[in-house]
Amino acid sequence: MPQIFDRSSNALARMSLVLTGLIVIALGITLDQLQRSPWVTRQGQRPDQPVPFSHKHHVQGLGLQCQYCHTTVEKSSYAGIPPTRTCMNCHAQIWTNAQLLEPVRNSWYTGQSIVWTKVHDLPDFVYFNHEIHVNKGIGCATCHGKVDEMPLMYAQNTLQMEWCLDCHRNPAKNLRPTAQIYNMAWERPSEDKPVWCASISDQYGVPTAQSVSCTRTDPAGNADVAASLKPLALFRPAVQSAAQAATLTGGASEAVAANAMPVQIQFQKFTSQDELGHFLVDHYNIRTPKDLTSCEVCHR
Ligand code: HEC
Ligand code: HEC
Ligand code: HEC
Ligand code: HEC
Ligand code: HEC
Repeated sequence: MPQIFDRSSNALARMSLVLTGLIVIALGITLDQLQRSPWVTRQGQRPDQPVPFSHKHHVQGLGLQCQYCHTTVEKSSYAGIPPTRTCMNCHAQIWTNAQLLEPVRNSWYTGQSIVWTKVHDLPDFVYFNHEIHVNKGIGCATCHGKVDEMPLMYAQNTLQMEWCLDCHRNPAKNLRPTAQIYNMAWERPSEDKPVWCASISDQYGVPTAQSVSCTRTDPAGNADVAASLKPLALFRPAVQSAAQAATLTGGASEAVAANAMPVQIQFQKFTSQDELGHFLVDHYNIRTPKDLTSCEVCHR
């Protein structure tokens, strides 16, 4: 249409097209950033709570275990928030006049639960389950951070899809022995601090998380290790003669015989997370990354 519009308006039209494109892209990036920003994910924020409950005081200071309050974490999809009764186990006697605890006493006398503000809250269209994570060797601290050092609770991680997938693509880098899931100070194996693990399933082919036992002290010639192996004894085949009572590799045979361990137990030494992770992937029967990243796992 050069008769109506001259050449310069053509260039103008092209330019405005490019400009609109740029604006759309910029908007997209901003929205994407916003969607991932702590403002939206609430990562790192400490919401107001009716009572300023301190995990630091109660876990690190008083030495309470997570399961004392979060009683269902190993056996259900929810970890659970403790009822007021749990607090009153102590606070009926301790700090009975403290102003800070007024909402706790009030809840106790009225029977109305304390309404805590959720710190972690996945959308309803996402399925999550504590039980399987905890029973397959993912520690609380891997997802929630060092809770024992938090005066007020906050979310250490975004809980966004990408965060879940990052682990589901390669769980080996985060697996630890199931006996260590509550350990806030667990360190990955290294040359200086190795981990030794033994598995009954190597002998009898029944891999379950319970058939693995791990220790941080060299099992060779160490009687204490025999005690750490007790859970394994549950997995021995029904009939074992005393003659079959086998020996541990290297020196600890007396301690083992005393505990009547009937099975030959071979320890493997691990000096890196990679080695330990792959051993645990096999023995905890972890699915392949392909299975674990398929949409149906989390969106049912
Ligand atoms: C004395 C009881 C008690 C113990 C012990 C305890 N917690 Fe809690 N926990 C609570 C209470 C009460 C809340 C809710 C208030 C809050 O968020 O601070 C909570 C909240 C949490 C939350 C956040 C819940 C949410 O809203 O998303 C996490 C995660 C958590 N606890 C993890 C742990 C871990 C890990 C341990 C062990 C290291 C532990 N807790 C030990 C009482 C306890
Ligand atoms: C095993 C006993 C025990 C249990 C169970 C317990 N507390 Fe405590 N709590 C204490 C003691 C002891 C202190 C004093 C700690 C200090 O000053 O070092 C305390 C202190 C507090 C304080 C004062 C602030 C602080 O952290 O020092 C609050 C608030 C509190 N507890 C809330 C709760 C709530 C809420 C629950 C239930 C979810 C609970 N406690 C369960 C023993 C307990
Ligand atoms: C694989 C990561 C992961 C691990 C491991 C994990 N959590 Fe959670 N936790 C979450 C997620 C995600 C939520 C939010 C769930 C929701 O909103 O439905 C959550 C929520 C919670 C809550 C809030 C109440 C509830 O039941 O939803 C508590 C308390 C809690 N976790 C405690 C623990 C404790 C204690 C452990 C260790 C024994 C643990 N978590 C291990 C990811 C994890
Ligand atoms: C640190 C590692 C890690 C993180 C983070 C993690 N997962 Fe998992 N998840 C695992 C492992 C390991 C398994 C067990 C796989 C198996 O047994 O094959 C698992 C299993 C699952 C399952 C399977 C449950 C079943 O019964 O089939 C669901 C659902 C799931 N995760 C959801 C999530 C969601 C949602 C998130 C993020 C909010 C998440 N996971 C974050 C490691 C992780
Ligand atoms: C390991 C668990 C997991 C798997 C596997 C998974 N998702 Fe998600 N997905 C999530 C979580 C968690 C959220 C919520 C993110 C948030 O709150 O920001 C989510 C959110 C979404 C959303 C909402 C938009 C968004 O990004 O927030 C869509 C769409 C989605 N997922 C599609 C998929 C598709 C398609 C697949 C398969 C290719 C898939 N998801 C696999 C955990 C998973």
